[in-house]
Amino acid sequence: MLRRDFLNFLGKVGVVSLPLGIAPFGLLSSCSNSKQTNDLKRLGIEPSTEDNLILIDGLDYEVLCAWGDSINNVDYFGYNNDYTAFIPIDNDSAIFWVNHEYPKPLFVSGYQGGLKTKEQVDKELYNVGGSILKIKRTQAGKWKVVKGDKLNKRITGHTKIPFYWDEAIFGKSAAMGTLGNCSGGVTPWGTILTCEENYDAFYGEAIIQDGERTTSDPFLQYNKYYDNPPEHYGWVVEVNPLTGESKKLVALGRFMHECATIQELDDGRLVVYTGDDTNNQCLYKFISDKPGSLKEGKLYVASLEQKKWLSLDINDNEALKEHFKTQTQVQIRTREAAHFIGATPLDRPEDIDIDPITGDVFISLTNNKDKGNAHGSILKLHEKEGDKSSLEFDYEHFLTGGPESGFTCPDNLAFDKKGNLWFTTDMSGYLVGVPPYESFGNNGLFVFFRSGPHQGQLAQIASAPVDAELTGPTFSPDGKTLFLSVQHPGEYSKSLKDLSSDWPDKNGAIPKPAVVSIQGPFLDSLV
Ligand code: FEO
Ligand code: CA
Ligand code: CA
Repeated sequence: MLRRDFLNFLGKVGVVSLPLGIAPFGLLSSCSNSKQTNDLKRLGIEPSTEDNLILIDGLDYEVLCAWGDSINNVDYFGYNNDYTAFIPIDNDSAIFWVNHEYPKPLFVSGYQGGLKTKEQVDKELYNVGGSILKIKRTQAGKWKVVKGDKLNKRITGHTKIPFYWDEAIFGKSAAMGTLGNCSGGVTPWGTILTCEENYDAFYGEAIIQDGERTTSDPFLQYNKYYDNPPEHYGWVVEVNPLTGESKKLVALGRFMHECATIQELDDGRLVVYTGDDTNNQCLYKFISDKPGSLKEGKLYVASLEQKKWLSLDINDNEALKEHFKTQTQVQIRTREAAHFIGATPLDRPEDIDIDPITGDVFISLTNNKDKGNAHGSILKLHEKEGDKSSLEFDYEHFLTGGPESGFTCPDNLAFDKKGNLWFTTDMSGYLVGVPPYESFGNNGLFVFFRSGPHQGQLAQIASAPVDAELTGPTFSPDGKTLFLSVQHPGEYSKSLKDLSSDWPDKNGAIPKPAVVSIQGPFLDSLV
């Protein structure tokens, strides 16, 4: 974008002061921040309730792949795209991974009530998991899917996936499929981590009371045809994007994993941060025993009160030993173990990303309506002496949502090449326009500038179609393309004849989740 146009764009919009509780990058909250806090402004596009993907001037999008698009002779792109990952092959080609979180039965299987048929269940299970796509850059600089490439594959709710653990999990060494695939991560060796989040919707949840196990009723009815135990879901799954070979990482614990953000230590061991996205659930950190493998290591959970990571190793804690018989039990019932040893309940920890400049860990706490926290915040965690293997940390609330700050319910995070923090928002679709969310319009994409002429200011970059959430922001390595998932447009459509959205095809078509590629001078100005 020409500088003049960029300033015009900024000049077009109103300016709103952000509330207290916001600190610039690299500074801890203190009175020294007060000047910067007063200077913070909200810029960018106006909130909108239009049924479109609206972008600021200087950016355009193309659909890269939409639900139902054929990817090879037998497979098609799944539903509700979420996390995306870009694994470069060379300068102009890459493997592109996409999570598929959950189906909307009305669209995916035609289900409209009553008992589901096996065919409907199978169709819905096919539409979750992930897609592996080869993508290529054209001479015009646009990224396109290479349809029919031998790398293109689907991982689904039917794929057999072994547990990466020496003991069986609920009697089996492998699970049927992966599901609830929300956010994720990429390992230093180029495999994908895909996280099983709201797994209880599929096969329910196991409930242990007075030593007795019962299971809750799932609402997707899959257990009528497949007798899969809930214990087989709620894991982080590692996928080799070259082969599709997958394994469930038992060592990282079982809960509603939002994401798995990985960092390599100087000695080659790995640290993985992962949040449990439910009201009053916790933040975890795994430290591997060895380089190059996530099979063995220790899982820790955060106590914000103590500013410490607490070990979930049964041998480190007498109380755990009294409550659980084996480490495998702790891994399966991680939530219970975490609360048992005094972990801090948080306001729905969602995505996590690591500041490429300071190494600080940023965590979205999206909201906790039960506690009256409607708008959420972004937490910044600083490991002691910047050492990711440290068991002590400091923290602060970096950005706080609310009408004054112009954003609410932060979710997915991504840093660009300049270290600016991008994030998406996730109001539940039925809350759009409803107090206390009436000023926000549809869900959006925002950037918080860390440097340059707008340092310390927040801009809304995109507004989502009706009922949709923007998820899975990933920058290409050159920073000139932003891949973004548009998830669940038209989710609250009442019937095929009463659609709340017709994005992206428009003209009354059934809405489709799709991954878009975004380019333009606005991004070029940030590389
Ligand atoms: Fe699938 Fe917590 O978002
Ligand atoms: Ca999410
Ligand atoms: Ca969310």
